[in-house]
Amino acid sequence: MQVVDHVRLNEAGDKLVILDQTQLPNRMEYRELETAEEMYEAVKKLRVRGAPCIGIFAGFAMYVLALRFDRSSYPAFAQQFRDAAAHLNASRPTAVNLSWALRRMERVVTERKGVAPAELLPLLRAEAQAILDEDIAMCTAISEHGLSLLKEGDCVLTHCNAGPIATSKYGTAIGPLILGAERGMKLKAFSDETRPLLQGARLTSWELDRAGVDVTLICDNMASMVMKNGWVQFCFVGCDRVAANGDTANKIGTSGVAILAKHYGIPFYVLGPTSTIDLSCATGEDIKIELREPDEIREMWYREPMAPETVKCFNPAFDVTDHSLISGIITEKGICRAPYEKSLAALF
Ligand code: MRU
Repeated sequence: MQVVDHVRLNEAGDKLVILDQTQLPNRMEYRELETAEEMYEAVKKLRVRGAPCIGIFAGFAMYVLALRFDRSSYPAFAQQFRDAAAHLNASRPTAVNLSWALRRMERVVTERKGVAPAELLPLLRAEAQAILDEDIAMCTAISEHGLSLLKEGDCVLTHCNAGPIATSKYGTAIGPLILGAERGMKLKAFSDETRPLLQGARLTSWELDRAGVDVTLICDNMASMVMKNGWVQFCFVGCDRVAANGDTANKIGTSGVAILAKHYGIPFYVLGPTSTIDLSCATGEDIKIELREPDEIREMWYREPMAPETVKCFNPAFDVTDHSLISGIITEKGICRAPYEKSLAALF
């Protein structure tokens, strides 16, 4: 597969370079980031997005920021590190990978109390690289487990984007399709457009097409029809946070896909790394759902506003799919089945 280098350090190793996902599929635009404000904005505006990708980004972001912190004493450096991590953590609330990666980076500092900041910097860079390397391995394993369910000619419906640019190599939900194509399998996909930010149209259909998968783009409200027609054998979606009981937060509209899949008797799988499982949330009720600006519904993408300026809008970025609708949760360690309290706990 053609790997897109979407989060990396620049050649000098002192700035963060990201592929600006808001510009896809029309432009492959890269941005260099070095300030805390630029990092915060990149996550908030979805220039970098997708739960695992936000975690990878957070690792390198903290390293780049740490290069600019006060190195004269450990306490000053550690305080600046904690403050910057808290600031970045506030950018988006739902994907657990952000706080997970920030905690990992923070541990590098807090577990070495009193060590000279200059000595911590190479360790922070190594930890960021480890988060990326581990994600590549996890996505590869998830893709293998997902592919084990598919046979030649199968068609998978997916929602939002859980591909390589939302993670690392292969991705999660569409990883099995990309891996299958790499092995010469003929697999098909329906990509939900994913209103309001169009991740399915702009990103998933772009990634699948580049990978040589036969992909058809549909509007979100067409999923029922393609399922009813018998054109879909599986639904594969990603996840932003999986609670201990299997309830899963993912892009708004995912729970509707799961309800349709249940109605039409189509297996519905969630694919994600163990870094997206949050056992501290007992159920989906404990997951904070991000609310975004009305303009994303009212006017973004249109030449002129497509609703009255004063109309009220409700714009949650994610919803929670009830565990009872999920046929299995595919992690790098294998496929977890109900009861999820038991199968998910056994992963750790
Ligand atoms: O708002 P986004 O684009 O960051 O939402 C992304 C999703 O919902 C993905 O499905 C999820 O993060 C999994 S990415 C492997």
